[in-house]
Amino acid sequence: MLPLTSQIDVAVETIRRRWDGRPRVGIILGTGLGGFADEIERERIVGYDEIPHFARCTAPGHRGRLVCGRAAGVSLVAMDGRLHRYEGYSLQQITLPVRVMRALGIELLIVASASGGLNPAFASGDLLVIEDHINLLGDNPLVGIDDDGTGPHWRALSQPYDRTLVERALQIARRENIVAHRGVYVAVCGPNYETRAEYRFLRAIGADAVGMSTVPEVIVAVHAGLRVLALSAITNLGLSDAPSPIDSQHVVEAARMAEPKMRKIVLGILAAVEPRGQAEKLIRG
Ligand code: HPA
Repeated sequence: MLPLTSQIDVAVETIRRRWDGRPRVGIILGTGLGGFADEIERERIVGYDEIPHFARCTAPGHRGRLVCGRAAGVSLVAMDGRLHRYEGYSLQQITLPVRVMRALGIELLIVASASGGLNPAFASGDLLVIEDHINLLGDNPLVGIDDDGTGPHWRALSQPYDRTLVERALQIARRENIVAHRGVYVAVCGPNYETRAEYRFLRAIGADAVGMSTVPEVIVAVHAGLRVLALSAITNLGLSDAPSPIDSQHVVEAARMAEPKMRKIVLGILAAVEPRGQAEKLIRG
């Protein structure tokens, strides 16, 4: 296999041959924000199957294409479909698109997901603005990566989620009458949902919500020097005494219901992004 930096170069070259935009923002449209693709004035769509080294999406509701264009006046590239560890991919495969979006020029990564609520104050349909995470994947996307220009080996993760953007997202939620909480997301491998004992354990170690994504991409985004905002739609409650029965169809449907809320927050954030070249700052105000 080619070294990581060569994989990034080849993928970027392929995309650049199809699209010459200079994206400032990258978005991962996980479960919960797939419909956001309709919000983008499309300039080009590139299937993952057209891009060397990109893995194919196999999870329900994940399409597997990069949507390149603009939303709220901001040039962006969106992953319409994400990759998960439970699909059998390595964390390096899952996170390659983040590195490619970084090489295309993004400065901010917005990550959407669905998750099970562990905090008893949460209700299905609420949003979580992730302010910290716990990695229980038993793996790390930076394992085996040399300091070869992709980022420093020992990057601190004491503040992976941009504080200004967390506050801004909560502010937009209040303005729009959307119930949004701040909290800690724990990533597990899946693909099964948790046992009652596991939900109890995950709550006890300090998590507010549990999901099967987000953390690998965020680790790599921070490693690559990106700012990160991550939102998660609470699709079910993993309360150990009264867990709501759950299957993937329920999760996809509940995430779809929460999607307009997530869309408003993402559009609000994009509206605050400064045009490139007009200011040093990424976010207005
Ligand atoms: N557990 C793990 N991942 C999830 C859940 C859950 O309860 N709900 C949505 N994604």
